[in-house]
Amino acid sequence: MGEGIGDYTKNIVDLRRHMWMAGVEVELRRLIWQIAVVGKYISANIHEANRKLAGFKNIYGEDQLSLDRSSDEILKNQLQFSGFVREYASEEQETIIKIGTGSEKYIVTADPLDGSSLVDTNLAIGTIIGIHKESVFDTGKKTMAAALYITYGPLMTIVYSAGKGTHEFVLNREGEYVLAQENISLQTKGSIFSPGGLRREWLPEHRKFIEALEKDGYKLRYSGGFVPDINQVLIKKGGIFTYPALTKAPRGKLRLLFELQPMAFIIEQAGGQATDGRTDILSLKVEILDQCSPVYIGSTTEVQMAHQFLAK
Ligand code: AHG
Ligand code: MN
Ligand code: MN
Repeated sequence: MGEGIGDYTKNIVDLRRHMWMAGVEVELRRLIWQIAVVGKYISANIHEANRKLAGFKNIYGEDQLSLDRSSDEILKNQLQFSGFVREYASEEQETIIKIGTGSEKYIVTADPLDGSSLVDTNLAIGTIIGIHKESVFDTGKKTMAAALYITYGPLMTIVYSAGKGTHEFVLNREGEYVLAQENISLQTKGSIFSPGGLRREWLPEHRKFIEALEKDGYKLRYSGGFVPDINQVLIKKGGIFTYPALTKAPRGKLRLLFELQPMAFIIEQAGGQATDGRTDILSLKVEILDQCSPVYIGSTTEVQMAHQFLAK
């Protein structure tokens, strides 16, 4: 899984070439490339036999699908021999796992398979990755070197940021990740909203915020999968995704380390914002592995508007 020689006779800009041209540091770009290749293995593993329950629960008490566990295994096994990863933290593991020799440069966080509840409905699902330089418990922007997500839908796409903008690639029939959009830039105000959580469990301030969006003509666009829902905001160049504090879950549902921080990094690099309703997601201190947080993520206008409602 080295960098190898791509077929550049067609003069396409693929993921490796893009990262090289963008000046992404060599070890980081090799790691991102390896994860992109692992994405193809996970994709090949999405088949009918893996839709069944695995008979185990994860640390959140959720039933794991066979696909959750096998995607996690594939990632962990491949990253173990990457040469660039010293620790692997996954939504599907109880503790941070030391892999490699310990002297490697990066720590990887993973939601190996996002959207488990959509697998039987055949909607798009994804993988979310964070790449940190330092312990994830030190938190703050300084520890995250890059983030990416992969979508498995009618097309397979990868969106990455190594701190130099946010870029989208689409897997073509030759197996190449071809640049689709460079330096994606969100408009300051969008026209779609993606509201997570049961309405009857929303807090009154949040409900008023959503009602204000509805009144303003925002269109509801919600699949129930964080990756496709965020991807929609990014590709449509604006709008907001929320998964708020709920009466039964004051910290919401989504996981700070595995889901929110990587997406916050990607959305901020596209000119958007990600907060818990008050504080930037990337400034929140990660205290425990399975920490959750409410989230408001997307265009700046909508996120700021959420702040005003939540402050009332
Ligand atoms: P995962 O499949 O990795 O457990 O994540 C599921 C998440 C996320 O994709 C989505 O935004 C959210 O769960 C939806 O949850 P509910 O349908 O329970 O509200
Ligand atoms: Mn998830
Ligand atoms: Mn998951």
